[in-house]
Amino acid sequence: MDPSSSPHVLPAACDFTVFGGTGDLALRKLLPALYHRDLEGQLPADHRILGVSMSDLDDAGWRDAVHAALTTYVDPEQLLTPAVDRFLARLYHLRLDARNAEDWDRFHALLKERAHPEDAVRVFYLAVAPRLFGSICQRLDEIGVVDERARVVLEKPIGHDLDSAREINDAVGRVFDESQIFRIDHYLGKESVQNLLVTRFANTFLEPLWNSRWVDHVQITVSETVGVGGRGEYYDHAGALRDMVQNHLLQLLCLVAMEPPTYVGRETVRDEKVKVLQALEPMTPEAVDRDTVRGRYDVGLVDGEAVPSYSEDLQAGGSHGRSRTETFVALKTEVQNWRWAGVPFYLRTGKRMDRRASEIVVVFKEPPHSMFPGAEGATAPNRLHILVQPDEGMRLHLTAKEPGPGGYRLRPVSLDLSYAAAFDARLPDAYERLLMDVMKGNPTLFMRRDEVEAAWTWTEPILRRWAATAERPRRYPAGTPGPTAAAMLLERDGRTWQETDQ
Ligand code: BG6
Repeated sequence: MDPSSSPHVLPAACDFTVFGGTGDLALRKLLPALYHRDLEGQLPADHRILGVSMSDLDDAGWRDAVHAALTTYVDPEQLLTPAVDRFLARLYHLRLDARNAEDWDRFHALLKERAHPEDAVRVFYLAVAPRLFGSICQRLDEIGVVDERARVVLEKPIGHDLDSAREINDAVGRVFDESQIFRIDHYLGKESVQNLLVTRFANTFLEPLWNSRWVDHVQITVSETVGVGGRGEYYDHAGALRDMVQNHLLQLLCLVAMEPPTYVGRETVRDEKVKVLQALEPMTPEAVDRDTVRGRYDVGLVDGEAVPSYSEDLQAGGSHGRSRTETFVALKTEVQNWRWAGVPFYLRTGKRMDRRASEIVVVFKEPPHSMFPGAEGATAPNRLHILVQPDEGMRLHLTAKEPGPGGYRLRPVSLDLSYAAAFDARLPDAYERLLMDVMKGNPTLFMRRDEVEAAWTWTEPILRRWAATAERPRRYPAGTPGPTAAAMLLERDGRTWQETDQ
């Protein structure tokens, strides 16, 4: 293996280009993440960051914009003057109109403008609309800047259905080898998500219980309080199923359900995840009608503040506001394999809900026999809550005896693990880990082509069925846990959504 692409060795030099360099993702997430890594001394000395966009900015203008973004998105205690200056000096901006050959020549020249350009690993981060992925890659190839060490990073969504995902994968694959393509799902960079693997496989106590014999069901929730804000144009074409379920929630499900790989390596984890996706119960039209709920937020109160409806948010962004797009999804599925057959997995995500919380709850079965006289019905099943955000950690719900004489009074108690308390360290943003992995050439936490396509294969029948029925998403007031039908989805199975007080 080329040593510079070893997971543990940084390239001696790197040109990190962000297409969409003045966009929200670049300014809010990517540049602050790179700054943090630079602050910790992890960027090579002559690492450059090239911003490419349609904006008429020179280098100084982009540096000002990035400086303002750092001031907004980075903790002031981490903004140290010499480090900020060093970071800003790495930045260059190029206005590029993708149809203009001269602009591409200028980009080529910029990449060549360094001592020993052939030594630098080139990373092309495409933080732009997915329809541009193929043509940008083709141009990069034509101007001759793609060598075997180059890498391309693709932001989700990879397409809007299976066919469009394949088209994008084909187009990018004509220029880059699969090993050079990094499809990002930032949920995989979250500390608590990675810790899920460690909790499951670096400890022994859970594994014997982690199956249909002891697990009653699994719940995965990603609820947000934000609305669609200024992203209405994108979101209205996507909806919650494409925006969140097809990628983030299915990735969480994979990590909960996958078999142990022989070791954590660049293909082994992905091999196991893809098997989970392929084992998901297919969504027939009957299953879609029975096991999915769509919702859409209406006006309401979030954190005590009145907020507009989804239609009003769309109108504020210049659209007519008429839409059948869902901002909430709840669904039930099953992983049809030896370990999980018969265990429901309930997934739920929505915007403008009552709280911001992402969590996985594994609910265990009730004890087979109640042996404490008078305590029948006083026990609750054991539950393991894996808290992804806002506070990362884990909570194990047990039943305990209330102290005192006079028989057994049983009470629920919990064992709490907060990462913030256990590790006295700043928890890095997901992008920090993932961008370093791109530079090191380590694809373990990125989605492989077959994973993305397996996820679309499962998701697409839901989209097709929804499009074929006259039913519209159910309204839910902003600031609530979503439509009541989502609660019914569990209640009809004799279960309820488990909320964690974070
Ligand atoms: C993005 C979605 O991928 O994830 C957004 O496009 C969503 O709609 C975001 O808000 C949620 O990410 P996080 O890290 O804030 O949970």
